[in-house]
Amino acid sequence: MRHLLTLEGLDRETIVRLLDRAERFRKEGAPRDLLAGRTVLTLFFEPSTRTRTSFVLAAKRLGADTLNFDLSRSSTSKGESLLDTLHTLEAMRLDALVVRHDENGMPAWLAGHANTDVAVINAGDGTHAHPTQGLLDVLTIRQRRPDFRNLRVVICGDIRHSRVARSDAQALHALGVKDIRLCAPRAMLPESLREFPGCTTREDFDDAIRGAEVVIMLRIQKERMADAQYPDADDYHAHYGLDMRRLALASPEVQVLHPGPINRGVEIAPEVADGPQSRILDQVANGVAVRMAVLAELLATRA
Ligand code: CP
Repeated sequence: MRHLLTLEGLDRETIVRLLDRAERFRKEGAPRDLLAGRTVLTLFFEPSTRTRTSFVLAAKRLGADTLNFDLSRSSTSKGESLLDTLHTLEAMRLDALVVRHDENGMPAWLAGHANTDVAVINAGDGTHAHPTQGLLDVLTIRQRRPDFRNLRVVICGDIRHSRVARSDAQALHALGVKDIRLCAPRAMLPESLREFPGCTTREDFDDAIRGAEVVIMLRIQKERMADAQYPDADDYHAHYGLDMRRLALASPEVQVLHPGPINRGVEIAPEVADGPQSRILDQVANGVAVRMAVLAELLATRA
C-alpha cells in the first residue's frame, strides 16, 4: 500500500491485517520509535474533532513528528494554489499527508501529484470516502462479534451525503457481511447505493432494525444541503431517530455505532447514545489504534 484513499477494492486480507495490527497496538501498546524521524502533516479543509486529533495522537505514539497545517494562517489565503502548497510542504521533507476536503477525490488528486515518497491518507473527502472510519467501525463491531457471518447491519440516516456509509458498506462487504440494510427517507437514499454489494434499501426504520445485531446511525449533513432540504428535526426523529422503543426491535446483543458528531434528539436519543449498547466512545478509542496501524503500514517499511 502506498496511499490509503478508499476501501473500495481493498481485499479482505489487507483489512484483516490492519485490524489485527490495530488490536495489537490497542492491547499491548506500540513501539514508540517505529516512526522516529518521520513527519506526518494534517491538512484539513473541513472541521474535525475525532479524526484529526486521533491521527496526531497515533503518529506521536509511534514516535513521528506531527504538524497541523493551519489553513487560515497559511499562504493559501494569499492565493497560493493547492499544488504549490503541496510542493512547498514536500520540500520540507514530509512522509505522510493526512487530508480532509469537501470535494470528492481531492486526496486522490493530491496523491497523483505528490512525490513518490509521500503517503497520502484520506481523512474524509466530500460524500465519497472515509476509509479509516470504515476500518475503525468494523474493528469496533469485531471486538464483540468476531464472526461476521450472518451479521445483520443497519446503516440509518443521511446516506446520500455520507462518506462513512460508503466506507462502512465497503469494509463490511469485504469482510463477508451479506445483509447490510441502508435505511433513510427516499430523499437521502441515492440510487447509486441501491446496487451496492451486500446492500438493500429500506424506508421504514422499524422494518429495517428488526433483528439487527449492529445499528450504525448517521448525522444529517446540514453543511452539504440547501436549507430547504433540511427536515424538521422532530418529524425526522419520529421516523428515523433511534430511541429505546426502536432499539428493543433489534437483537438483544445489538451494538449501536455513530461516527460522530451526534445530534442528540435528532438521529439518536440521548438515552441510547449513552446507554449500555452504545459503542460510540469505543469507536473513538479504536480510531487512534486504527490510525496507528494505517500509519505503520504505510510508513514503517519505507526507506
Ligand atoms: N467521525 C468523524 O470524522 O468525526 P470528526 O469530523 O470529528 O473527525
